[in-house]
Amino acid sequence: MAHLIAPSLLSADFANLRKDVEMINNSEADWLHLDIMDGVFVPNISFGMPVIASVGKYCTKPLDVHLMIVEPDKFIDEFHKLGAHVLNVHYEACTHLHRSIQRIKALGMKAGVTLNPHTPVSVLEEIVVDVDLVMLMSVNPGFGGQKFIENTIDKTRRLKELILRRNSKAIVEIDGGVNYETGKRLLEAGADALVAGSFVFGAENPTETISKLKAL
Ligand code: DX5
Ligand code: ZN
Repeated sequence: MAHLIAPSLLSADFANLRKDVEMINNSEADWLHLDIMDGVFVPNISFGMPVIASVGKYCTKPLDVHLMIVEPDKFIDEFHKLGAHVLNVHYEACTHLHRSIQRIKALGMKAGVTLNPHTPVSVLEEIVVDVDLVMLMSVNPGFGGQKFIENTIDKTRRLKELILRRNSKAIVEIDGGVNYETGKRLLEAGADALVAGSFVFGAENPTETISKLKAL
């Protein structure tokens, strides 16, 4: 499978979101990554339901929603109504992860589980077969533009091994500090999807940057 590129709206121009969404629509991006923060699970607040509803009206790419919130179960149905294609919940935020995953899938969305940098892939041993996607944080969640955590390369390899060993069909997505150099190494280590925020939106030519990430 060709790898997927998911630009993160977090680094877009919030006073010109429609323009940036149209750029994504006309690019080779596969998904649009939406970062939802509550100021509790992570030390920052991003944007919420009304923004997603407006963005969803114009975006022609599937929405890859990343919930950085406590008690994500409360909002699974609402994110479905808002048109999420992939719904990522954090392992660290879910007491009953199996239940959360089943609810996401029952609504017809792709179920993703996300791990913080300190969380070992071994915690997924009993659930990896149930998920459609595992996302590894390669920065501490909460902010765009942070430095890539090097351990993620080996962690990606270990995750891929676990997925193969457990006969899971889950794909591997990596979020944080992705650029041409880290992106290339992540793909070699087994990543299937790359999120990129500041590297895309901070570029002189975001559309071309997406094409180059796609061609890695
Ligand atoms: C961080 C978010 C990321 C963020 C990535 O909490 O989950 O999706 O937008 O930004 P960059 O690509 O700039 O590291
Ligand atoms: Zn994210």
